[in-house]
Amino acid sequence: MAMKKQIAWGTSKLLWFFLQNQNAVRFDYVVDDFTDRTEFCGIPVRRSGALAEERREECEVTIFAVSNRSLGEILHKLRRLGFGLSKEVRLYSEFFAESFSSRIKEDLGIEADQGLHRYVVSFTLNSRKMIHTTICGSWLFLELLNQCKSVPGDIAEVGCFEGGNALCALQSPVWPKGKAYYLFDSFEGFPDPSNYDPALSKKGDYASDLTVEEILDSFSMYPHAKVCRGFVPGTFDNISKEKRYSLVFYDCDLYQPALDTFRFFWERISPGGVLLIHDYLAEPGGFEGVRIATDEFFGAKNAALVPFWHNTMAVVRKE
Ligand SMILES: C[S@@+](CC[C@H](N)C(=O)[O-])C[C@H]1O[C@@H](n2cnc3c(N)ncnc32)[C@H](O)[C@@H]1O
Repeated sequence: MAMKKQIAWGTSKLLWFFLQNQNAVRFDYVVDDFTDRTEFCGIPVRRSGALAEERREECEVTIFAVSNRSLGEILHKLRRLGFGLSKEVRLYSEFFAESFSSRIKEDLGIEADQGLHRYVVSFTLNSRKMIHTTICGSWLFLELLNQCKSVPGDIAEVGCFEGGNALCALQSPVWPKGKAYYLFDSFEGFPDPSNYDPALSKKGDYASDLTVEEILDSFSMYPHAKVCRGFVPGTFDNISKEKRYSLVFYDCDLYQPALDTFRFFWERISPGGVLLIHDYLAEPGGFEGVRIATDEFFGAKNAALVPFWHNTMAVVRKE
């Protein structure tokens, strides 16, 4: 059978990392309706109208989009062009799954649960709340939740935005009963960025369209979810210094909150527990401040750090 024409959709960091790390697929072109670029990593960029010229049965379209909102909008456009999910269309995470599964086995001793991958895909596509953690990011978070079940201490997510990843975890089959989940966010978006953060980022980026009350409402049936509103590190003062953690997820995108989070939480993570850092890996011009803060904090500590290009995260385990 002739190889189908491979088309990517989305000039995102996920496609950038995929192209740097895998050469299994050659894309004929990338579709993107929101960029001025005419090529991306050597691949021509076209508008979605190009797909109207294609013979559907001869194409495979893979979507590389970070947020669930973008995924939904792209799927909607593809549907209007006659392209359907699991027919001519697939999500990037299907491409990543095999390599991701072997990496977590080799480097973290985790036997990947493909059921969790399916759960995250379904949750991501059907959530009304925005999720920016990415499919392989939430999948890794759930695998670590499961692995840390027997490690003493609660869970924390620093930078929860509208709570998309948090709700995915709270509703998942691996939520560890009996643990509290501390969720930190300004709910006003970024503070002033530092010189290590992208030049184009600014105070107030990532402010949600939802009111804080609407975000809090989504957690009302989860009494073990403790939402801490305000800028970190100030809000760390509102929780007991004696508390210990089994899994801490940093997702504020920026240099200074990263450093503040590591300074507060690292000594409070129980042995065997994990710090998960989003944006440890960044594409050129991306959130490079997180890696700078991580290297600054962990450089002299001799802690083993495991990066994942599949979701731009890094895992640091507490010995
Ligand atoms: C990428 S979003 C988090 C995405 C989220 N984990 C999810 O699953 O969708 C980054 C968040 O960090 C928050 N943030 C950035 N700096 C902060 C700070 N210093 N204190 C509190 N929140 C902060 C922003 O308000 C924003 O909601």
